[in-house]
Amino acid sequence: MTELADRIKQLPPYLFAEIDRLKEEVAKKGVDIIDLGVGDPDIPTPNEIVEVAKKAIENPKNHQYPSYVGMLKFRESVANWYKRRFGVELDPSTEVVSLIGSKEGIAHLPLAYINPSDYALVPDPGYPVYPVAVMFAGGEVYKMPLKEENGFLIDLDSIDKDVLKKAKLMFLGYPNNPTSAVADKDFYKRVVELAKEYGFVVASDNAYSEICYDGYKPISFLEVEGAKDVGIEFHSLSKTFNMTGWRIGFAVGNRDVIAALGKVKTNIDSGIFQAIQEAGAYALDNAERLNAQIIKTFQKRRDQMDEALRKAGFEFNTPKATFYFWVKVPKGFSSAEFTKKLLQEKGIVVTPGNGFGDAGEGYFRISITNPRIEEAVERIRSAAL
Ligand code: MLT
Repeated sequence: MTELADRIKQLPPYLFAEIDRLKEEVAKKGVDIIDLGVGDPDIPTPNEIVEVAKKAIENPKNHQYPSYVGMLKFRESVANWYKRRFGVELDPSTEVVSLIGSKEGIAHLPLAYINPSDYALVPDPGYPVYPVAVMFAGGEVYKMPLKEENGFLIDLDSIDKDVLKKAKLMFLGYPNNPTSAVADKDFYKRVVELAKEYGFVVASDNAYSEICYDGYKPISFLEVEGAKDVGIEFHSLSKTFNMTGWRIGFAVGNRDVIAALGKVKTNIDSGIFQAIQEAGAYALDNAERLNAQIIKTFQKRRDQMDEALRKAGFEFNTPKATFYFWVKVPKGFSSAEFTKKLLQEKGIVVTPGNGFGDAGEGYFRISITNPRIEEAVERIRSAAL
């Protein structure tokens, strides 16, 4: 049998696939598992969206290849939503591209910009797809540590100047996965300045902008003046409308970057099933109402989790957005040791902080995509004793 390529040989199993595998092993022993691992909403997609998709599936026009860049109707809905939600104007013809979930776009973007020995700047801890995508494109990953003392924002001043000169791309994601930190306009302004100075492309991952609490509304990177000159933003319908399984997202912003990503994609995939795009357009057209209903559930869970973890004596910051609590592991444990103990002895699935990068060591991530919150925290507390 032919040997695997080095890029695959070197690659550890995908974080959430590995967690699923370990979970299956424990489940086989008959353990009652509470899964607080992957950020995959347990609540169904709103029925109205499902009904639109059902009708759209019956339309034979939707049975052929979709447009590569996405139906104009879907891209218009994206542009209209960006205008209403963030005050950002987008040309649906040139500044929006549909994606088979934002993961797909993130994974393909480095292919458009990275030559061997080029650098991409990647947050650590961060969504595992950022460094892997850079590696697949043959580039070098420069890790930008997210530290608590800096509010888990990227410390832009500490990035190596020689690396900046060779950097083609910067990934960033706020509201942040996994730390749940949020960014303000000042931070994004400095990102734009740096990108202009060194000439790299900014890829802002804004998948969690609608999962927010206490009336707080996360902003878009594109709200900052000059942002569209240097970058794009990814968004996904997965989290906003409980649609992870549908695989629908989009990228918006700089038209050259959108065209470059589109060029990669036309060579690799053939777009999203049109019936799904019709449902996605409906979701975006009714985003305010549909998302408000969804957020009620997560706000309740965020409050419950916050209270239960505090009572149990854990250290963390209350998330203003995302599904995630980024919690310090109890003294005496590494991230891997504690999460392994939680799974094997308590039937609790959480994500080890170091699974998101070395700088995540010392933390574990809890996702509130499961309603059994008090019970879960009681088991986590008992494992820490
Ligand atoms: C996560 O749990 O980090 C995310 O749900 C993974 C993803 O969005 O692909």
